[in-house]
Amino acid sequence: MISEKDFIYTENTAFLNKGSFKWSAPSNIALVKYWGKKEHQIPANPSISFTLNQCKTITKLTFKKKQDTVTFSFDLLFEGKPKEDFHPKIQKFFERIELYCPYLKDYHFTIDTQNTFPHSSGIASSASGMAALAMNIMSLEKELNPKISDEFFCQKASFLARLGSGSACRSVKGSVVIWGNHPETPNSSNLFGVEFSSEVHPNFKNYQDTILLVDKGEKQVSSTVGHDLMHNHPFAEQRFSQAHRNLSAIKSVLKNGNIDEFIIIVESEALTLHAMMMTSMPYFILMKPNTLEIINAIWKFRRETKIPVCFTLDAGANVHVLYPENVRVTTLQFIKDELVGYCQNGQYICDEIGLGSKLLLEK
Ligand code: PMV
Repeated sequence: MISEKDFIYTENTAFLNKGSFKWSAPSNIALVKYWGKKEHQIPANPSISFTLNQCKTITKLTFKKKQDTVTFSFDLLFEGKPKEDFHPKIQKFFERIELYCPYLKDYHFTIDTQNTFPHSSGIASSASGMAALAMNIMSLEKELNPKISDEFFCQKASFLARLGSGSACRSVKGSVVIWGNHPETPNSSNLFGVEFSSEVHPNFKNYQDTILLVDKGEKQVSSTVGHDLMHNHPFAEQRFSQAHRNLSAIKSVLKNGNIDEFIIIVESEALTLHAMMMTSMPYFILMKPNTLEIINAIWKFRRETKIPVCFTLDAGANVHVLYPENVRVTTLQFIKDELVGYCQNGQYICDEIGLGSKLLLEK
């Protein structure tokens, strides 16, 4: 079994004066949710997600050798403009991964980032952002040590991304990704995400995700605080075992194509996530009245038309509407006619299952 030690960089570093890379990394939407963690971003239960295609972060990393090797040194740009607000987050990330990437202090970095989705859309950019940065760091590592395999590259990128933001480890490679030890998934790991290894049924090919932007405000409760509230949560143990069972069940569903079962698991997971928030101490509610309006409208539409549209939620008020590609036209019409009115400024994003991070430039 792979352990943390396997990710510690121990090679001599090749001499590299300067260079740059550019990667895009997508966001992902969990079907079985990660909520609750132990030290060092180890998840309290395993999770599984669809990788998205359109919602991405694109990050260019430029590096230049520097004299002093005792401090981290980096400049941050967001959409081409200096963005010092991100400094503490990246500083903390570098500190967390220093043991595994000791070469980071040898360079001055410029990290230039942009998102393909609207800023302050309420969509968390931490998963795509941390994954894009981790891919760039691994490109640098590969220049320093060209022997590393593609498999190690992706595993370590996912491992590093996890230390930045847990769910980011599911944004590296593959359309369906599992993260967290799950006895029924032999290659699964708490340390990094792994691609779902079975063939996904054609029913889920190009599965659609229309993200309805219900509330674009700052989250009242950060996911870090939310995860922490699972310590001593009265329902924690039940929840963690339920996630194990739901992961086993959804793995079968993804193979056999049973969309009715898929809907039951996915919607129950979304509501359970929010139920955990409502029953923690302190308790909180991240859904908004319009979140519930949308859920009820989806249920009514599904009952009346038998079209298999369902929803999921992440840690916020926005709704991800999930449906097969073959009902795309009718479902989009329904969304425009009946759901967009509940979105802030009528905003929504059309997305679908994607493949993972992509190298855009290397020099
Ligand atoms: O990666 P974090 O720490 O922001 O946590 C994300 C948690 C959820 O989005 C609510 C669920 C998940 O599995 O992505």
